Amino acid sequence: MKEVGIGIVGFGTIGTGVVEGLQRNGALIAERAGARPVVRRIADIDTARDRGIALAAGVLVEDAEAVVADPAVDVVVELIGGTGAAGEVVRRALEAGKPVVTANKALLAERGRELFELAGARRVDLYFGASVGGGIPIVRVLREALAGNRIASILGILNGTCNYILTRMEAEGLSFDAALGEAQARGFAEADPSLDVDGLDTAHKAVILASLAYGFIVPMRAVSVEGLRRVSATDIVYARDLGYRIKLLAVVKDTEDGIEVRVHPTLVPLDHVLASVSGEFNAVMVRGDLAGETLYYGRGAGRYPTASTVIGDIVDVIRNLGAGSPARVPAMQAGTASFRPMASVRTRYYLRLALLDRPGALARTAAVLGAHEISIASAVQHEQGEADGDYAPVVLLTHEAREAACDAALEDLGALDVVGSAPLRLRIEE
Ligand code: HSE
Repeated sequence: MKEVGIGIVGFGTIGTGVVEGLQRNGALIAERAGARPVVRRIADIDTARDRGIALAAGVLVEDAEAVVADPAVDVVVELIGGTGAAGEVVRRALEAGKPVVTANKALLAERGRELFELAGARRVDLYFGASVGGGIPIVRVLREALAGNRIASILGILNGTCNYILTRMEAEGLSFDAALGEAQARGFAEADPSLDVDGLDTAHKAVILASLAYGFIVPMRAVSVEGLRRVSATDIVYARDLGYRIKLLAVVKDTEDGIEVRVHPTLVPLDHVLASVSGEFNAVMVRGDLAGETLYYGRGAGRYPTASTVIGDIVDVIRNLGAGSPARVPAMQAGTASFRPMASVRTRYYLRLALLDRPGALARTAAVLGAHEISIASAVQHEQGEADGDYAPVVLLTHEAREAACDAALEDLGALDVVGSAPLRLRIEE
């Protein structure tokens, strides 16, 4: 059987999983791909560590360039992450006409335009299935299966660490730090957890999904991103009492005013299908004009789930090479759309205020919101429990309002002498 040389750059958790998967299911994969993938070179700065995998002598090297340049390597698999060295590996491979498989969401979110254009100009495959959703093949769904749809919306729980933290805070009443510690111990947090908990990892993934759905690269700097750090156990309890659960959501919507892309902690009704996604699991709900609502669920991180998607991409690349149809599926769909700035987004809000327990405090708050045309749908103050000195938490749910109005109202509320620490604003998706 014909062989296809695979070169892997980055031999960490995912790289190890890919090599193990190719070894374990080699015969099956070869039969399905129509050629045998053979790992000819692997590069990693750490060539000494025993990863428990048998490799022929000389396969593991330090120099990434040696992998890209090796004539025996037909397909380059980039698994080092980050936007620096990884970007060079991908660029050089594409320039050399070698198909690339990558799991690197940060690279595509930050430098996608350049790399997609290069792949298109060279007519070479650039696959990135594992950049979003780990073992969930959501990239492939948007690139291929839903290609006949206009995508109305994508709602995603795309970060297992954040979902795990929120689940544990609710189930066990853990603090944010304790739950983050558990997530790290279980191995699905990023090396730098701020990428997870500050929402950037989810935003990178949201940008990739939005770009696939609408055919233009959404600039990262234009995406509104809020992380989890200000969500407290109090919010989780108030939200639940009001019939909601808090999730860190990527929200992508096609609206009359353009494409919205935002990432923030979000209240979803307890009976919403995404409310039942717990622990480290990810889920993506896509609404297409033909397909209607569709749902994709699975493990968004981890060695074998991510390796599964990387290997699926390798198989596709091998099939395309075998059929003489490189770049069969363009890295990006064609499309035209414009971006809707956050200030004009309309949504419902959850506002938590620290209010002095004194006559008229709530009325003055309501007057500020009214002055900004924000209508209150419900207000809750528990009689005891979470008071912070003289201040007690009061939670308001609003009707739909414009983000710019909410920003202005929050500024005015913050200036009221009856309001303590900065109000917390969360958004609601029904
Ligand atoms: N750190 C990510 C998560 C996985 O927790 O989901 C890789 O994107």
